Amino acid sequence: MKPVRLAILGLGTVGAGALKLLQENAAEIQRRTGREIQITYVGTRRPRPDLNLEGIKQSADLLEIARQDDVDVVVEVIGGIHPAYEVVMEAIKHGKQVVTANKALLAKHGNELFKAADANNVQIMYESAVAGGIPIIKVLREGLSANRIEWLAGIINGTGNFILTEMRDKGRAFADVLKEAQDLGYAEADPTFDVEGIDAAHKLTLLASIAFGIPLQFDKVYTEGISKVTAQDVKYAEELGYRIKHLGIARRAAKGVELRVHPTLIPEDQLIANVNGVMNAVLVNATPVGSTLYYGAGAGAGPTASAVVADVVDIVRDISYTEDGAGTIPHFAFENLADMPILSSEEMVTGYYLRVHVEDQTGVLAKITTILSEKGIGVDAIMQQTRLKDLIPIVILTDPITESKMNEAVAEIQALPAVRDEVARIRLEALDS
Ligand code: HSE
Repeated sequence: MKPVRLAILGLGTVGAGALKLLQENAAEIQRRTGREIQITYVGTRRPRPDLNLEGIKQSADLLEIARQDDVDVVVEVIGGIHPAYEVVMEAIKHGKQVVTANKALLAKHGNELFKAADANNVQIMYESAVAGGIPIIKVLREGLSANRIEWLAGIINGTGNFILTEMRDKGRAFADVLKEAQDLGYAEADPTFDVEGIDAAHKLTLLASIAFGIPLQFDKVYTEGISKVTAQDVKYAEELGYRIKHLGIARRAAKGVELRVHPTLIPEDQLIANVNGVMNAVLVNATPVGSTLYYGAGAGAGPTASAVVADVVDIVRDISYTEDGAGTIPHFAFENLADMPILSSEEMVTGYYLRVHVEDQTGVLAKITTILSEKGIGVDAIMQQTRLKDLIPIVILTDPITESKMNEAVAEIQALPAVRDEVARIRLEALDS
């Protein structure tokens, strides 16, 4: 059988990792695919004497590589939207199979790229775009395909989890930990994507589309990052038996789908509350299987390359088994996409942690609880903390309530004369099955 010929576009952390993995595990991989994988091109601007590029053509003209006859599969690991979009489209139009780690590209332009791929009978594989080494795309597309997915909740940004863990466990400063995450190759080229939740929102967009069979709708994801989480809130949450994690949540609700990314209090006895460092985890609740949890490294060369090469292996198998290489599983795991509305953030339902700084005045606690009760918000726990200078922190955990009701309550609490500083609020999920 003829070898399958590969072009790797981009030799950054992921591209170099995939190249090395294909070389180091070549014999094992060939046993799995039944045929040789030959790297014919790498797309790179810089010479890479540190890599073994013997017999591999090198070019900085990525569009030209995407058109070459001796390329069957294009691996796009350059990241960013441009020129990745143009290169992937060119590859598709020239009948190349595509493997990409580019969550930003797919979250924003996936609908049109998948449509073009269908029209040209090729696949776009993107296991490495979500949760690094965890095969979560395969889980949703294949392993759980008999189920109705009710919700999923995941720690899907390794950098953010690494920062939160180091801050909590070692009391390290935010900027210092972020720098280390960048040095370790975890962070995005623009690290605000990690810190402000954008990277997690890209990934949640991809997961939700596969879980619910809906088009990609990145612009409808409610997105909040970790930059406002303080050591004070981490400590109070722990006193109440919770950990703060940055979660991406997709939930099927009565009127539509909730898509949200934000710091979240999770009961400390949930396994996912104990996922630390650069590790990722995704908890999927589905019927009839119940809850299943997937755990592994979410970023870095090895884990991401593992997912890239697994996609290459799947494509090589498909090329061997099908005439046109169109693949056996649809991109979104559904043949027909559903028209389910994405709920606005106002309609989302979740519990809340509130931290209110108040002056030491009689009756202020009663006023706060009255506001909550008038809005129909149940209080699960209330705790007065040690005085901070002249203010008393009050921490409240609430039952689930719509965001709109909570917005009204927080506005009224904020307006009380005895309340000082901004009321801090962090969403809370019990993650019960
Ligand atoms: N910056 C990403 C993260 C890389 O930290 O999760 C993996 O997608």
